[in-house]
Amino acid sequence: MQTVKIGLIGAGFMGKAHVVGYSNVPKLFWPAPAVPELKTICDVDEATAKDAKERFGFKQYTTDWQEIINDPEIDAVSICTPNDSHAKISIAALKAGKHVLCEKPISNSSTEAKAMAEVADEVAVDGVIAMCAYQYRRVPAVVHAKKLIEEGSIGNILNVRATYLQSWSADEASPLSWRFQKKYAGAGALGDIGTHVIDIAQYFAGDIEEVVSNVKTFIKERPVQEGGADLLGTIKVDPDAVKEPVDVDDEASFLMNFKNGAVGSIEATRNAWGRNNYITVEVHGTKGSILFNYERLNELEVCFSEDLEDRRGFKTIYTGPAHAYGDVTWNIPGMNIGYGELKTIESYDFMKAIVEKKQPSTSFAEAYKVDRVCEAVLASSESRAWEKVK
Ligand SMILES: NC(=O)c1ccc[n+]([C@@H]2O[C@H](COP(=O)([O-])OP(=O)(O)OC[C@H]3O[C@@H](n4cnc5c(N)ncnc54)[C@H](O)[C@@H]3O)[C@@H](O)[C@H]2O)c1
Repeated sequence: MQTVKIGLIGAGFMGKAHVVGYSNVPKLFWPAPAVPELKTICDVDEATAKDAKERFGFKQYTTDWQEIINDPEIDAVSICTPNDSHAKISIAALKAGKHVLCEKPISNSSTEAKAMAEVADEVAVDGVIAMCAYQYRRVPAVVHAKKLIEEGSIGNILNVRATYLQSWSADEASPLSWRFQKKYAGAGALGDIGTHVIDIAQYFAGDIEEVVSNVKTFIKERPVQEGGADLLGTIKVDPDAVKEPVDVDDEASFLMNFKNGAVGSIEATRNAWGRNNYITVEVHGTKGSILFNYERLNELEVCFSEDLEDRRGFKTIYTGPAHAYGDVTWNIPGMNIGYGELKTIESYDFMKAIVEKKQPSTSFAEAYKVDRVCEAVLASSESRAWEKVK
């Protein structure tokens, strides 16, 4: 069986998620399309890199990502660093002929995202794969929603209303990590989490054509984390910390018109007490409605207009063996998957794409489109008018 040697860059929160994903591919999917082999882990922080090597079972560690690019043995690179370094690492890796799984958002700037999509396009002819890690479109319930939409079960889409609400930055004492700085993150809640639901909205209803937005920063300064505002790793609170300005949004909401005539709305915030990973996508069509909520990720709510009036209403489908990936994930409806399995599904699709030399979603071109929607949302909050997605 083919093995794919992995170099992973950025050993923080998502570094761990990618390791869980790769390690579980042959355990959940057998025969696997290819077996990932953890070769080198990189983090700018040496203690983190060293610890991750031991903990995750990599053969070696480095603090310089170029060593991964220059290693002829490495086949594929996972990019799990903050958003500002995605472009330079992805472009170098793709040009070196390595397959890339890059975390979202694809970049902190749509100019760089464009360059990434162009390079991905150029190397695709040689079978080099570039994938952006918008994993929520791979939740079996979301894949099933897409199937129902494509089959016409809810008719033509009229409205897509989506939210991504979290609470972790609602506390003013939550420190100024890279996520609150434009030079690293590009945008705040919009870029960090709004992008996930923009990706799903476009997966369901096609390209967003124009938006009108309301974008706000409520907490304008935050305490600098221990190690300084430019520390790109684990957040530690310094009790005597000075405060520095936040230059990204806490909350972004917008109305949108799709090219196909559908309308919709998106709200993203990390300041919603009581909401944790509250991704909801509700789709209304001419013949029915669909509702997905990630906090109940193995369920899909559906309502069909053709049901008899006295029993018409939302009913719950519990995803399992009858649905996407259901033959290999836990095969009891309702047990199905959690976040670790979702990252495994993503790693599986990445391996499959490498072996079959077929570009998977979310492609760099699609991820670049998500960044363009964000750019239009930010432009609209300045102009206070509808803005086209360029
Ligand atoms: N798909 C998802 O659900 C999801 C969830 C969280 C984060 N993310 C994305 O994953 C990426 C990383 O986020 P995170 O939460 O893991 O951040 P994090 O701060 O937990 O970890 C980032 C790690 O990268 C290291 N690093 C920074 N610059 C580096 C460089 N140039 N070379 C090597 N290492 C470097 C840091 O030291 C740190 O250990 C971001 O793009 C973020 O948007 C995606």
